[in-house]
Amino acid sequence: MVGFLTAASVLALSGPASAASTLGGAAAAKGRYFGAAVAAGHLGESPYAATLDTEFNAVTPENEMKWDAVERSRNSFTFGSADQIVGHAQGKGMKIRGHTLVWHSQLPGWVSGLNASDLRSAMNNHITKVMQHYQGKIYAWDVVNEAFQDGNSGARRSSPFQDKLGDGFIEEAFRTARAADPNAKLCYNDYNTDGQNAKSNAVYNMVKDFKARGVPIDCVGFQSHFNSQSPVPGDYQQNLQRFAALGVDVQITELDIEGSGSAQADNYRRVTQACLAVSRCTGITVWGIPDKYSWRASGTPLLFDDNYGKKPAYSAVLAALGGSGDGGGGGRTCTVSYAETQRWGDRFNGQVTVRAGNSAISGWTVTVTVRSAQSVSTTWNGSPSWDSSGKVMTMRPNGNGNLGAGATTSFGFTVMANGDWSAPTIGSCTAS
Ligand code: G3I
Repeated sequence: MVGFLTAASVLALSGPASAASTLGGAAAAKGRYFGAAVAAGHLGESPYAATLDTEFNAVTPENEMKWDAVERSRNSFTFGSADQIVGHAQGKGMKIRGHTLVWHSQLPGWVSGLNASDLRSAMNNHITKVMQHYQGKIYAWDVVNEAFQDGNSGARRSSPFQDKLGDGFIEEAFRTARAADPNAKLCYNDYNTDGQNAKSNAVYNMVKDFKARGVPIDCVGFQSHFNSQSPVPGDYQQNLQRFAALGVDVQITELDIEGSGSAQADNYRRVTQACLAVSRCTGITVWGIPDKYSWRASGTPLLFDDNYGKKPAYSAVLAALGGSGDGGGGGRTCTVSYAETQRWGDRFNGQVTVRAGNSAISGWTVTVTVRSAQSVSTTWNGSPSWDSSGKVMTMRPNGNGNLGAGATTSFGFTVMANGDWSAPTIGSCTAS
């Protein structure tokens, strides 16, 4: 009997029930990945790495694999920051999207100065050297990025590649890429191609032509950067479906949606549902983890707030993926904010405000991590417990756990600075 209970509890811990409480786990249960764009410079921030490792099972280096990062001068390659992300992801068994080989932006000046024949060899050399460096490690490469103009012309965008090599540069890039790493999926990636319009029609026609002529292409990336001027299109799913019908995978590659609250959550839900409804939609990548590190942070477009709290959009995505809907809180969420409220010669007071999300909550848990020199001398309005280092305090309510939707409470503490006046790191809020 004891043996039976032990086996059952192991199953309960490692089976689908626990997997489905994270974005990556829930996506995996649907045969898909859920990724995030990652910046190497943030990996040392512990809540950043913890959120990445817990929630995501795929990464895209946000800038570290771009031409200006890896080949700043001709045929001299520097892979340090990109390798850091790849190493981290591999250590956690995550898929890696390579971004991006041929793009008009973040292109070093020496490339645009080349004549046509030098540019052709530089492009092919770049693709070959970068892909070979990561051979066998990359799930899919954005071989060519953003080669079409906005607007209703469906024309190619002017770039050194387009202007000097002509329309054939995309085909040449894909053929070179296939030879460099035959196991990586090769994608074309663009924005404002998320619904049916002149630009997406032009990409569609290119992919159709490539498939008809046997030019190697495996996938199309839909960046999906949305805001009120550029909302999720009504025909988003149909658009993904028509590309899939050409015989390529489709991926949502740079998802972010400006806004907040339930409106933002509804849009994220629609995008997630659209991907799940298209069998060849193999995964979703959000373009960053907490709002504060977004390329457009003021639009708060991501799934985690500045303190790594799960936003309503997070719960909507998790629920749409068939996960537990809330990370274990039964629809309940909370967020936190921090302020230093007082300072003396040797110490300061910190205050953490806990805010309930769209539903009432009956409990909350927040971690506070102080620097190695610092120590917490006293706390109030909360019930603390400590890890063995004495630097990580887990705070739970002390009679202030019941909060109506949107209501707040706060707890406080005094930090002995010992020369380090840095603010503590406040972890995400978990509601119950
Ligand atoms: O690293 C330098 C730093 O040394 C310097 O001090 C600082 C001063 O400006 O700039 C830093 O580089 C910035 C880089 O991000 C890294 O933070 C660049 O200026 C900045 O232009 C660059 O922005 C990136 C942008 O692409 C460039 O076009 C964003 O982080 C990145 O999110 C964004 O991602 C693109 C995708 O690759 C393609 N699709 C659109 C998407 C959003 O624009």
